[in-house]
Amino acid sequence: MIRVCALSAILLLPLPAGAADPPAFPWQPTPSATAAYARAAAITELGRKLFFDPALSASGRTACATCHDPAHGFSAPNPLPVQLAGPDLRHPGSRSVPTLMYGQSVPAFSEHFFESEDEGDESVDQGPTGGRDWDGRVDRARDQAALPLFDNNEMANTEPRTVVAAVARAAYAGDVRHLYGQDIFADPPRAFAALTQALEFYQETPATFSPYSSKYDAFLLGRASLTPAEARGLAVFNNPKTGNCVQCHKSAVTPDGRPPLFTDFGFVALGLPRNRAIPANGDPAYFDLGLCGPQRHDLADNPAYCGMFKAPTLRNVALKQSFYHNGIFHSLRDAVAFYATRDTSPEKWFPTTPDGVVQKFDDLPAKYVANVSMELPFGPKRVLSDADVDDLVAFLRTLTDGYTVTTGATAHLNGGAITTAPHRLIVVSPPSP
Ligand code: HEC
Ligand code: HEC
Repeated sequence: MIRVCALSAILLLPLPAGAADPPAFPWQPTPSATAAYARAAAITELGRKLFFDPALSASGRTACATCHDPAHGFSAPNPLPVQLAGPDLRHPGSRSVPTLMYGQSVPAFSEHFFESEDEGDESVDQGPTGGRDWDGRVDRARDQAALPLFDNNEMANTEPRTVVAAVARAAYAGDVRHLYGQDIFADPPRAFAALTQALEFYQETPATFSPYSSKYDAFLLGRASLTPAEARGLAVFNNPKTGNCVQCHKSAVTPDGRPPLFTDFGFVALGLPRNRAIPANGDPAYFDLGLCGPQRHDLADNPAYCGMFKAPTLRNVALKQSFYHNGIFHSLRDAVAFYATRDTSPEKWFPTTPDGVVQKFDDLPAKYVANVSMELPFGPKRVLSDADVDDLVAFLRTLTDGYTVTTGATAHLNGGAITTAPHRLIVVSPPSP
């Protein structure tokens, strides 16, 4: 079974009931696989056009791709901690732009996530896990798309009708009619649902969003060797007594043969420094507390969650130019070095008062400081040397997609066949049991 089957599986499932959902398939009772694939491909292509179309914004100048740039793993195209957009392109957001790559693998948000596949112990509650955005507040990509479309700091539309009208005027309006019915634009809620469905399909294109084509993937397949620095970095990354990165950023092929995603989708408070370059932080009473608000509201009364953000995938992290939810660091080395010396040299990271007191964890009200993770590599004893940090960075650079494998034709990963195309490594899932 090839990966693209996930797409057809979605297609063949009945769409969830509800007035606003796009029309079901014209073919009844079950479409042929060929027809389903063709329709999926056409919806995906429509989603691509929507993703790159600035006409979907009130300013006419902000597309999804303006903030999610394919050249940067679908994260920000610039080193700004937060992007400027909105009706006049001057409204700052409050969080950094995450990568959209590998997003379709994120499980739905759950406060009590029981990990079974990796650790084989169903009784372990991993705590809050999954969902989209830094605070996991929305589950499906189609629902997520509505957030930027109506956020006054982003695409700044006021209602679905405006987005639908812009698409009805677009060169590709005929594609929408062809796929969803000639009268689709007469029903704005249904048309809007169709557009967000197409955006979701586009974001699930395996070749673009989850190619598994990094040097590390090639290494896992025995098709590339790591340099000594990269190999040392991997060892530190995986060592539970030093880097311990693997605890939250999974690096091994899963027991069922899937390549690692470099996240466990869990929520952790890392105690990052406050980013004074974010305009919202000019208000000393404002704190971005992740799980407990202010962007999400349902968990605000759970103080144990305050300060927690979702662990992102580290795939393509070297293409980013600002790191963490508040974009506080602008080099990958600083992003990694923070782990090494947050607790042993906090003065490097946090401001110091005129009388010499380091204001550690200055982006959290004092009552939530106890939520900050003290797992290794954090803690009172330094476990990562400067050389370890350099090696970790070298290793993280192997997670960038687009590594070219030139020799050989096939390999095996836990029983699944692997084939290579000239510029892309294609990982084919193992056959179903
Ligand atoms: C002005 C910049 C901007 C624009 C335009 C924008 N986004 Fe985003 N996007 C962000 C930021 C910032 C976040 C993180 C938000 C948060 O965590 O609260 C984000 C998060 C996401 C996520 C969640 C990723 C994750 O890690 O869970 C998805 C999916 C996404 N955006 C898709 C889109 C789509 C689709 C569009 C167009 C309809 C779009 N974005 C337009 C800035 C932008
Ligand atoms: C206890 C869990 C945990 C451990 C251990 C951990 N991380 Fe993270 N990592 C996270 C979380 C959570 C975030 C996002 C935090 C935020 O933005 O507030 C993150 C973010 C990052 C980022 C920024 C990614 C981005 O897209 O901006 C990098 C780089 C990173 N981690 C590397 C590492 C390395 C290297 C190690 C080992 C030295 C490590 N992490 C250990 C949980 C962890």
